[in-house]
Amino acid sequence: MKIIKLPSEIEIGQAVGDMFCALAQQNPQAVFGLATGATPIPTYQRMIARCKAGEVSFAGVTTFNLDEYCNLPEAHPQSYRSFMRAQLFGQIDILPQNTHFLDGNASDELAECQRFDALVEQVGGIDLQLLGIGRNGHIGFNEPDDTFTDGSFKVELTPSTIAANSVYFTEDVPMPTHAMTMGVGSILRAKEIVLIATGSAKAEAIKAMIEGPVDPQSPASALQKHKNVTIYLDPAAASLLE
Ligand code: F6R
Repeated sequence: MKIIKLPSEIEIGQAVGDMFCALAQQNPQAVFGLATGATPIPTYQRMIARCKAGEVSFAGVTTFNLDEYCNLPEAHPQSYRSFMRAQLFGQIDILPQNTHFLDGNASDELAECQRFDALVEQVGGIDLQLLGIGRNGHIGFNEPDDTFTDGSFKVELTPSTIAANSVYFTEDVPMPTHAMTMGVGSILRAKEIVLIATGSAKAEAIKAMIEGPVDPQSPASALQKHKNVTIYLDPAAASLLE
Protein backbone atom coordinates (compact mmCIF):
# COMPACT_ATOMS: atom_id res chain seq x y z
CA MET A 1 0.00 0.00 0.00
CA LYS A 2 1.26 3.43 -0.89
CA ILE A 3 0.31 5.90 1.86
CA ILE A 4 0.16 9.61 1.12
CA LYS A 5 -0.53 12.14 3.88
CA LEU A 6 -1.78 15.58 2.84
CA PRO A 7 -2.75 18.54 5.04
CA SER A 8 -6.49 18.62 4.32
CA GLU A 9 -9.41 17.08 2.46
CA ILE A 10 -9.10 19.83 -0.16
CA GLU A 11 -5.57 18.81 -1.20
CA ILE A 12 -6.64 15.16 -1.12
CA GLY A 13 -9.65 15.92 -3.32
CA GLN A 14 -7.41 17.70 -5.80
CA ALA A 15 -4.91 14.84 -5.95
CA VAL A 16 -7.54 12.11 -6.29
CA GLY A 17 -9.71 14.15 -8.66
CA ASP A 18 -6.62 14.59 -10.82
CA MET A 19 -6.06 10.80 -10.84
CA PHE A 20 -9.53 10.28 -12.35
CA CYS A 21 -9.02 13.15 -14.81
CA ALA A 22 -5.63 11.79 -15.91
CA LEU A 23 -7.12 8.34 -16.46
CA ALA A 24 -9.97 9.77 -18.58
CA GLN A 25 -7.42 11.74 -20.62
CA GLN A 26 -5.23 8.66 -21.21
CA ASN A 27 -8.15 6.33 -21.80
CA PRO A 28 -11.41 8.10 -22.74
CA GLN A 29 -13.26 4.76 -22.37
CA ALA A 30 -11.98 4.17 -18.82
CA VAL A 31 -14.14 2.39 -16.24
CA PHE A 32 -14.44 4.10 -12.85
CA GLY A 33 -15.65 2.53 -9.60
CA LEU A 34 -17.23 5.28 -7.50
CA ALA A 35 -18.29 5.85 -3.90
CA THR A 36 -20.80 8.06 -2.11
CA GLY A 37 -20.70 9.71 1.34
CA ALA A 38 -18.96 12.85 2.55
CA THR A 39 -15.40 11.73 1.76
CA PRO A 40 -15.43 11.82 -2.07
CA ILE A 41 -17.13 15.23 -2.40
CA PRO A 42 -13.87 17.26 -2.78
CA THR A 43 -12.69 14.69 -5.37
CA TYR A 44 -15.92 15.13 -7.34
CA GLN A 45 -15.63 18.92 -7.06
CA ARG A 46 -12.17 18.76 -8.64
CA MET A 47 -13.46 16.56 -11.49
CA ILE A 48 -16.39 18.96 -12.07
CA ALA A 49 -14.10 22.03 -12.08
CA ARG A 50 -11.70 20.49 -14.58
CA CYS A 51 -14.50 19.25 -16.82
CA LYS A 52 -16.18 22.68 -16.79
CA ALA A 53 -12.79 24.26 -17.63
CA GLY A 54 -12.65 22.04 -20.75
CA GLU A 55 -9.56 20.17 -19.53
CA VAL A 56 -11.16 16.73 -19.47
CA SER A 57 -14.18 14.92 -20.85
CA PHE A 58 -15.97 12.01 -19.22
CA ALA A 59 -18.28 11.42 -22.22
CA GLY A 60 -16.76 8.01 -22.97
CA VAL A 61 -16.30 6.91 -19.36
CA THR A 62 -18.35 4.12 -17.74
CA THR A 63 -18.99 4.10 -13.99
CA PHE A 64 -20.13 1.56 -11.40
CA ASN A 65 -21.16 2.67 -7.93
CA LEU A 66 -20.18 0.55 -4.96
CA ASP A 67 -23.55 0.34 -3.27
CA GLU A 68 -27.17 1.40 -2.99
CA TYR A 69 -29.75 1.31 -0.18
CA CYS A 70 -32.60 -1.19 -0.27
CA ASN A 71 -36.24 -0.15 -0.02
CA LEU A 72 -35.55 3.50 -0.76
CA PRO A 73 -37.20 4.96 -3.88
CA GLU A 74 -34.61 5.72 -6.57
CA ALA A 75 -35.79 9.34 -6.69
CA HIS A 76 -35.37 9.87 -2.92
CA PRO A 77 -32.73 12.58 -2.30
CA GLN A 78 -30.68 10.19 -0.13
CA SER A 79 -30.58 7.36 -2.66
CA TYR A 80 -27.06 6.93 -3.96
CA ARG A 81 -28.32 7.50 -7.51
CA SER A 82 -29.63 10.91 -6.42
CA PHE A 83 -26.38 11.63 -4.56
CA MET A 84 -24.27 10.90 -7.64
CA ARG A 85 -26.52 12.98 -9.89
CA ALA A 86 -26.28 15.95 -7.50
CA GLN A 87 -22.59 15.67 -6.59
CA LEU A 88 -21.07 14.61 -9.92
CA PHE A 89 -23.02 13.22 -12.85
CA GLY A 90 -25.36 16.19 -13.26
CA GLN A 91 -22.40 18.56 -13.51
CA ILE A 92 -20.08 16.72 -15.93
CA ASP A 93 -20.52 15.46 -19.49
CA ILE A 94 -20.90 11.77 -18.58
CA LEU A 95 -23.73 9.93 -20.37
CA PRO A 96 -26.42 8.76 -17.91
CA GLN A 97 -26.64 5.39 -19.69
CA ASN A 98 -22.96 4.78 -18.85
CA THR A 99 -23.53 5.12 -15.07
CA HIS A 100 -24.43 1.87 -13.35
CA PHE A 101 -25.87 1.05 -9.93
CA LEU A 102 -27.10 -1.98 -8.08
CA ASP A 103 -30.91 -1.73 -7.89
CA GLY A 104 -31.71 -1.79 -4.18
CA ASN A 105 -35.40 -2.29 -4.99
CA ALA A 106 -34.96 -5.32 -7.24
CA SER A 107 -37.42 -8.11 -6.43
CA ASP A 108 -34.89 -10.81 -7.34
CA GLU A 109 -31.80 -9.69 -5.43
CA LEU A 110 -29.59 -12.55 -6.53
CA ALA A 111 -30.38 -11.94 -10.21
CA GLU A 112 -29.70 -8.23 -9.73
CA CYS A 113 -26.27 -8.90 -8.18
CA GLN A 114 -25.45 -11.29 -11.02
CA ARG A 115 -26.56 -8.72 -13.63
CA PHE A 116 -24.34 -6.03 -12.09
CA ASP A 117 -21.26 -8.25 -11.68
CA ALA A 118 -21.64 -9.57 -15.26
CA LEU A 119 -21.82 -6.01 -16.59
CA VAL A 120 -18.57 -5.08 -14.80
CA GLU A 121 -16.91 -8.11 -16.36
CA GLN A 122 -18.38 -7.37 -19.80
CA VAL A 123 -16.75 -3.91 -19.93
CA GLY A 124 -13.38 -5.39 -18.93
CA GLY A 125 -13.43 -4.65 -15.19
CA ILE A 126 -12.90 -1.49 -13.17
CA ASP A 127 -9.75 0.50 -14.00
CA LEU A 128 -9.75 2.77 -10.94
CA GLN A 129 -11.88 2.19 -7.83
CA LEU A 130 -12.52 5.01 -5.36
CA LEU A 131 -13.20 4.03 -1.75
CA GLY A 132 -14.03 5.72 1.54
CA ILE A 133 -13.91 3.74 4.78
CA GLY A 134 -16.49 3.30 7.51
CA ARG A 135 -15.69 3.93 11.19
CA ASN A 136 -15.91 0.16 11.61
CA GLY A 137 -13.55 -0.48 8.70
CA HIS A 138 -16.21 -1.24 6.10
CA ILE A 139 -15.50 -0.66 2.40
CA GLY A 140 -18.56 -0.40 0.21
CA PHE A 141 -21.09 -1.80 2.67
CA ASN A 142 -18.95 -4.83 3.53
CA GLU A 143 -19.44 -4.81 7.28
CA PRO A 144 -17.15 -6.62 9.77
CA ASP A 145 -17.87 -10.35 9.54
CA ASP A 146 -16.35 -13.80 9.97
CA THR A 147 -15.43 -14.18 6.30
CA PHE A 148 -14.61 -11.91 3.39
CA THR A 149 -17.31 -11.52 0.76
CA ASP A 150 -16.75 -11.97 -2.99
CA GLY A 151 -19.31 -10.70 -5.54
CA SER A 152 -22.19 -8.27 -5.02
CA PHE A 153 -24.78 -9.15 -2.36
CA LYS A 154 -27.50 -7.80 -0.05
CA VAL A 155 -26.24 -6.84 3.40
CA GLU A 156 -27.80 -5.95 6.75
CA LEU A 157 -26.18 -2.72 7.91
CA THR A 158 -24.57 -2.66 11.36
CA PRO A 159 -25.67 -0.30 14.19
CA SER A 160 -22.40 1.68 13.67
CA THR A 161 -23.20 2.32 9.99
CA ILE A 162 -26.84 3.10 10.74
CA ALA A 163 -25.76 5.60 13.42
CA ALA A 164 -23.23 7.25 11.08
CA ASN A 165 -25.63 7.62 8.14
CA SER A 166 -28.90 8.32 10.04
CA VAL A 167 -28.01 12.01 10.07
CA TYR A 168 -29.03 12.14 6.41
CA PHE A 169 -32.52 10.74 7.10
CA THR A 170 -35.67 11.96 8.84
CA GLU A 171 -38.46 10.34 10.86
CA ASP A 172 -40.67 10.25 7.74
CA VAL A 173 -38.14 8.25 5.76
CA PRO A 174 -35.88 6.48 8.26
CA MET A 175 -32.42 5.18 7.47
CA PRO A 176 -32.68 1.91 5.51
CA THR A 177 -31.46 -1.18 7.39
CA HIS A 178 -30.23 -3.03 4.29
CA ALA A 179 -28.19 -2.25 1.20
CA MET A 180 -26.81 -3.93 -1.90
CA THR A 181 -23.06 -3.69 -2.24
CA MET A 182 -20.16 -4.85 -4.32
CA GLY A 183 -18.31 -7.51 -2.33
CA VAL A 184 -14.70 -7.38 -1.17
CA GLY A 185 -13.77 -9.74 -4.01
CA SER A 186 -15.38 -7.37 -6.54
CA ILE A 187 -13.41 -4.46 -5.09
CA LEU A 188 -10.12 -6.39 -5.16
CA ARG A 189 -10.65 -7.20 -8.87
CA ALA A 190 -10.26 -3.47 -9.73
CA LYS A 191 -6.95 -2.82 -11.48
CA GLU A 192 -6.15 0.12 -9.22
CA ILE A 193 -7.70 1.31 -5.94
CA VAL A 194 -7.57 4.67 -4.20
CA LEU A 195 -8.95 4.97 -0.67
CA ILE A 196 -9.47 8.29 1.11
CA ALA A 197 -9.90 8.78 4.86
CA THR A 198 -10.28 12.13 6.54
CA GLY A 199 -11.07 13.02 10.15
CA SER A 200 -10.32 11.46 13.54
CA ALA A 201 -13.43 9.22 13.43
CA LYS A 202 -11.58 7.13 10.82
CA ALA A 203 -8.23 6.88 12.69
CA GLU A 204 -8.89 3.49 14.36
CA ALA A 205 -10.20 1.92 11.17
CA ILE A 206 -7.13 3.20 9.31
CA LYS A 207 -4.76 1.77 11.91
CA ALA A 208 -6.46 -1.64 11.71
CA MET A 209 -6.47 -1.56 7.91
CA ILE A 210 -2.76 -0.74 7.57
CA GLU A 211 -1.09 -2.15 10.69
CA GLY A 212 -3.46 -4.94 11.68
CA PRO A 213 -3.74 -8.44 10.25
CA VAL A 214 -5.82 -9.22 7.15
CA ASP A 215 -9.05 -9.95 9.02
CA PRO A 216 -12.70 -9.84 7.85
CA GLN A 217 -13.52 -8.04 11.12
CA SER A 218 -11.65 -5.14 9.50
CA PRO A 219 -12.94 -5.48 5.91
CA ALA A 220 -10.59 -2.78 4.56
CA SER A 221 -7.58 -4.85 5.66
CA ALA A 222 -8.24 -7.01 2.55
CA LEU A 223 -6.66 -4.17 0.57
CA GLN A 224 -3.26 -5.31 1.91
CA LYS A 225 -3.57 -8.13 -0.64
CA HIS A 226 -3.99 -5.80 -3.65
CA LYS A 227 -0.93 -4.80 -5.67
CA ASN A 228 -1.93 -1.26 -6.64
CA VAL A 229 -3.55 0.62 -3.75
CA THR A 230 -2.97 4.23 -2.75
CA ILE A 231 -4.30 5.53 0.57
CA TYR A 232 -4.76 9.28 1.04
CA LEU A 233 -4.97 10.44 4.66
CA ASP A 234 -5.32 13.77 6.39
CA PRO A 235 -3.40 14.24 9.69
CA ALA A 236 -6.42 13.29 11.87
CA ALA A 237 -7.10 10.02 10.02
CA ALA A 238 -3.36 9.16 10.16
CA SER A 239 -2.99 10.10 13.83
CA LEU A 240 -2.89 6.56 15.30
CA LEU A 241 -0.39 5.13 12.79
CA GLU A 242 2.97 4.01 14.22
C1 F6R B 1 -20.21 4.73 0.13
C2 F6R B 1 -19.55 3.62 0.78
C3 F6R B 1 -19.09 3.67 2.20
C4 F6R B 1 -18.49 5.00 2.60
C5 F6R B 1 -18.13 5.01 4.08
C6 F6R B 1 -17.59 6.35 4.53
O1 F6R B 1 -20.54 4.43 -1.21
O2 F6R B 1 -19.40 2.63 0.16
O3 F6R B 1 -18.15 2.64 2.43
O4 F6R B 1 -17.34 5.25 1.83
O5 F6R B 1 -19.27 4.70 4.83
O6 F6R B 1 -18.60 7.32 4.45
P1 F6R B 1 -18.28 8.86 4.63
O7 F6R B 1 -17.42 9.26 3.48
O8 F6R B 1 -19.61 9.55 4.60
O9 F6R B 1 -17.57 9.00 5.94
